[in-house]
Amino acid sequence: MQSILDYQAEYLLPTYAANLLLTKGEGAYVWDSKGKKYLDFSTGISVCNLGHCHPKVTKAIQEQAATLVHVSNLYVNEKQPLLAKKLSDYSNGGRVFFANSGAEANEGLIKFARKWGSTRGRHKIITMQNGFHGRTIASLAATQKASIRKGFGPLPEGFIPAPYGHVGCVKGLIDEETAAVLIEPIQGEGGLAISDKAYIQELRKICDEAGILLLFDEVQSAFGRCGYWFSADYFEVQPDACSVAKALGNGFPIGAFIVDRKWEDVLGVSSHGSTFGGTPLACSAALAVLETIEEENLLQYVQEKQDWLKQELENLVEEFAVVESFRGTGFMVGLKLTVPPTETIKAAEKEGLLVIPAGNNVIRFYPPINATEQELTAGIKLLRKALEQTK
Ligand SMILES: Cc1ncc(COP(=O)(O)O)c(C=O)c1O
Repeated sequence: MQSILDYQAEYLLPTYAANLLLTKGEGAYVWDSKGKKYLDFSTGISVCNLGHCHPKVTKAIQEQAATLVHVSNLYVNEKQPLLAKKLSDYSNGGRVFFANSGAEANEGLIKFARKWGSTRGRHKIITMQNGFHGRTIASLAATQKASIRKGFGPLPEGFIPAPYGHVGCVKGLIDEETAAVLIEPIQGEGGLAISDKAYIQELRKICDEAGILLLFDEVQSAFGRCGYWFSADYFEVQPDACSVAKALGNGFPIGAFIVDRKWEDVLGVSSHGSTFGGTPLACSAALAVLETIEEENLLQYVQEKQDWLKQELENLVEEFAVVESFRGTGFMVGLKLTVPPTETIKAAEKEGLLVIPAGNNVIRFYPPINATEQELTAGIKLLRKALEQTK
């Protein structure tokens, strides 16, 4: 009889190189099909921020699945406005549009910027080198990484690359056709690059001076990952609009973009839509996520633990020549190696720890934001073991 892995190899398009079959998750742990237990500090790449199968989220999904799963956005559902209010309250007080993924949220963000610019003769969007915004055609055009763009051209025009971290370069690129600057304030896929607060604050200033939009991609950084609802709070800068997804549903697919009320008229009736965006089921899951972050004081927890975690990871920089530096903030952290991270990640998996690569040589260490000190310590210990095996 063929195994699941045989089916994977035979029937799926080979876009992923996965070969570890995971069958169960609980809190910070997952189990593979052979019953081996792993500490999951990949968290679905900052998706399962509350750990796997959080009881409150599971209950919300179960109850809503038995009540009303989907109605089209031609009707109002009971959960979507409540979730929109929460996201608005936590962010810039703006208005929300619901989508299903990060790329789709960014498509909406880009469409918002284009529509805003259409009455001003502005269509260009400045995006950052090493940034990542998704795999759809427009979000790919905004992603300035040659290897993942290759073969998909021609991509939509008007996305202008700028080096991350250089205000002067962005300033020099703004012209009368520029509509927006789009940035992940902390680059996730690009290798956990985090700039000075001053850089993001300067970007806000130059966008205001030029009369253009500042857009944040918070898909990876939001909902506690960096110790705040949004990395915007860390940088103390409010964007004109931002995209979110990943951790919002703790694994249940949902994305959104949030637009400052100043621009609430840009996308009017029929200007944008989504069949599945904001279903009662997705919104119930997300409401449970946000309530849990509040009730369990998880933003505060990450802020309290982050210096300790940073120190633990910095000890590894001291201990291993192959570890060049610590990267990140909050629980959005990792290590930059002097070599590609593949070997260390494989060794960690063997030891029972799941961690993920970023950029060319970074290991991301993304615990759930409610991971206990014991779990965090266990993760560091396993990472240390993996590094001992790295040449
Ligand atoms: C910053 C950022 N934006 C967008 C995306 C795309 O999200 P999705 O895979 O849900 O389309 C990702 C995914 O890793 C991301 O990290």
